[in-house]
This record gives sequence, structure tokens and C-alpha cells, in this order.
Amino acid sequence: MEPDPPLTLAREATPHGEVVLRRRGAVLELVVDGAFAMDTVDTTTEVRLAEAALTRHQEPERVLVGGLGLGFTARAVLADPRVRRVDVVELAEPLVRWAREGLVPELAGLEGERCRLVADDVAHVLTGAGSPPGPWDVVLLDVDNGPGFLLHPGNAALYERSGLAALRRSLAPGGVGVVWSSHPAPDLLAGLRSVAAPGDEVEETALVVHREGRELTYSLSVLHRAPGTAG
Ligand SMILES: C[S@@+](CC[C@H](N)C(=O)[O-])C[C@H]1O[C@@H](n2cnc3c(N)ncnc32)[C@H](O)[C@@H]1O
Repeated sequence: MEPDPPLTLAREATPHGEVVLRRRGAVLELVVDGAFAMDTVDTTTEVRLAEAALTRHQEPERVLVGGLGLGFTARAVLADPRVRRVDVVELAEPLVRWAREGLVPELAGLEGERCRLVADDVAHVLTGAGSPPGPWDVVLLDVDNGPGFLLHPGNAALYERSGLAALRRSLAPGGVGVVWSSHPAPDLLAGLRSVAAPGDEVEETALVVHREGRELTYSLSVLHRAPGTAG
């Protein structure tokens, strides 16, 4: 059977390339700067990203989500009643606007008392130069298809030592940072180990996904900052 042709719901140029929302049958797709960013066929790993951190933290009150996408990670965080505040930082300003306008049900109604959407580069926010200021109990990063498949070349720095050190510094003592990837990411894991301090824990969880008849292995790379460590 022929796949449904895509129906473009919105598209807009940004300084970081065009962002497009389109519907193919019941499936919503997000395209960023010409690259497929995600769709709604299987969003289990976006949810697992949130769960991986929330299950490792006893009081995850403040959470930073890097990359709004189609809102599945943010919604999974908001489903946890222990979370008091979620800052969702998204580089593509039109996507934030479409979410505020409720352009599609998947993105509608996210912002509210417990959730703020911010149009910015998450790298800027993680360094403490942007707003909102940290620290956070949980930081979730899903801004690329993984460190080996970037949506924007500028995101490479996020996975380098300086970016990973900023991620660690943005965590409150006891905080948990998790990075999503659509492939195993040994270099990222090594990078997290290189910025970890004594008492921190670093680990990778493999996630098996079945898509279009293929078995794929995605990964979550976790840095759990030791409680009571400064700096
Ligand atoms: C794969 S999607 C995120 C999916 C999301 N986890 C979900 O559940 O729907 C990646 C998102 O990150 C955004 N993004 C890319 N680079 C970014 C950056 N440096 N800072 C903030 N957002 C960024 C993209 O525009 C896109 O919306």
C-alpha cells in the first residue's frame, strides 16, 4: 500500500534552517533544517528519557528539557506529580509559538503553571548565561538524532567536554542528566565519565525499538551527580 502523502501544517524559516510540521495520516512529523527530527509512530523512547531520570531521583522538583520536539518528553515529565517546574528550551521559535497557539493537539496545552516554554539554544541556558537559571534536579537532552547525527552542526559542542561539563554543572547535587540518542554513543559515555567527579555515576541504557520491520538500538546516557558535591 502506498504511504499517505504528507500534508504540511506549518513551515517557517529560522536562523537555524526551516522548521516544518506535517501530518501523514494520523502521524505527525517534525522536520528541522531539512532533516527528519521525529514523528509520532513510536514515542516510547522519548518517554523513557524522562522516566530514566525521574526514577533515579527522589525529589525531582525542577526539570530542564532540552528540545521541545513534539512534546512527548515534556508531557511525561509533567505526568510526575513530584515535579513542580519544567523549563522546556527549544531553539526553533516557531515551534514554541505553534505549541502556544495549540496548532496541533500533540503540542497544545503544555505551557502552564508548572511548565514554561523558552525559545533559546539549550547550550546557552546550560552555561548559565541564558534564562531560566539552574540548577535543575533533572536535565534531559534530546536536541539531535544523537551525537553522531546532529540536527545542527553547532550542537556538536554540547557533546564535547566543555558542553558535558556545563551539563554536569547545571545539575543540583544529586541531580540526574540524561542524553537521548538514536544509536549507541560510546564517545558520549566516555565524555560523561571524563567530566564526572568522584561519587558521580555514569551509565548507558540500550533501548531496542522496532521500526518499519527493522530492529534498532537507541541509547540513553546518564550522569547521576553525587549528592552533596560542590562545583
Ligand atoms: C528530536 S526533537 C525532540 C523530541 C522530544 N524529546 C519529544 O518528546 O518530542 C529535537 C528538538 O530539539 C530542538 N533543538 C535542536 N537543537 C537545539 C538546541 N541547541 N537547543 C534547543 N533545542 C534544540 C529541535 O528544534 C527539535 O525540536
